[in-house]
Amino acid sequence: MIVDPSPSSLARATELLRRDALVAFPTETVYGLGACATSEEGIAKIYRAKGRPATNPLIVHVATIGSLAGYVAPSPREEHRLARLESLWPGPLTVVFESSRGLAANVSSGLASVAIRIPAHPIAQQLLQLVGLPLAAPSANRSNYVSPTTAQHVYDEFGDDIPLIIDGGPCAVGIESTIISIGSSQVRLLRPGIITVEELEGRLGEKLEVTRGEETRPISPGQLATHYAPRTPLVFFDETNVSDIPVRSGLLTLKPHPSKEISERFQEVCALSEHGDLLHVARRLFAALRELDKKQLELIVVERCGSSGVGLAILDRLVRATTKSPTTE
Ligand code: TXA
Ligand code: MG
Repeated sequence: MIVDPSPSSLARATELLRRDALVAFPTETVYGLGACATSEEGIAKIYRAKGRPATNPLIVHVATIGSLAGYVAPSPREEHRLARLESLWPGPLTVVFESSRGLAANVSSGLASVAIRIPAHPIAQQLLQLVGLPLAAPSANRSNYVSPTTAQHVYDEFGDDIPLIIDGGPCAVGIESTIISIGSSQVRLLRPGIITVEELEGRLGEKLEVTRGEETRPISPGQLATHYAPRTPLVFFDETNVSDIPVRSGLLTLKPHPSKEISERFQEVCALSEHGDLLHVARRLFAALRELDKKQLELIVVERCGSSGVGLAILDRLVRATTKSPTTE
């Protein structure tokens, strides 16, 4: 059931979470499928609902830096780096620490490490405060499909299998948080997001180890190749011969395509922003992929963006969506 974020729905959500049930809630990045991070039973329900392999760990959300201390004991190196990153929290950043305590073992798939995020969205914040416990929440989509950026997207996939979906409107960021691990000698980027490599390097005063999922073996299960993929095949515009595209194709561009002649060859045309602003593109991307995916097209052709700044995060999602390699998920 989709509900407005009224005090009574938040009270109901709190009660459900405390009883090991699932609640979907908005964050500024994407909607999360939440359970208490101290509840093995609740977490097992997340894996079951998503069809997610038990080997792919979840992100744990906490309300404040202060509440972090109950669940992680940062090493001196992590402590030092955390101090430089603190001003990015609450926000779209997830930090992987080498060890955790007091959380259910299945939240990190039995790994010693834990991924922590402090979301900025007021509804996520309120819920965390009311529950008074950390919440494990992966993106509220079935494993391997596009992340949800509205409550309706969550409902479209799960229907009433999720007892409560709190509607906070469309997500402002639109793509998942940036993930870094900070315990080893070099900080590693595990997933790019709108908090960019450039920004993180500036704050940390050190270079990040940046590996792209498609080029390397996964170091985090989330780096497996086919993630975020719509069901309709997706190809890059610059790898396609426009004269060969099927009649029932869609075109997804960063801004309105300048050529009428090209646009007219496509049955559906969707521009992700008015002027190519990549923050706008990120916000619209997943919703647009879901919309095009409903149109029974044979092919979606997507324009590629550059790889600096926020472009890296958008390109990462597009590359994964276009990859057709088999996956273990
Ligand atoms: O924006 C977000 O991060 C959203 C919202 C709901 O917070 N959540 C999200 O969760 O995207 P999910 O589960 O879809 O992606 C979490 C990623 C996965 O790729 C997982 O492999 C990685 O985080 N991860 C979680 N714990 C980890 C750990 N201990 N070490 C390495 N990677 C980890
Ligand atoms: Mg996900």
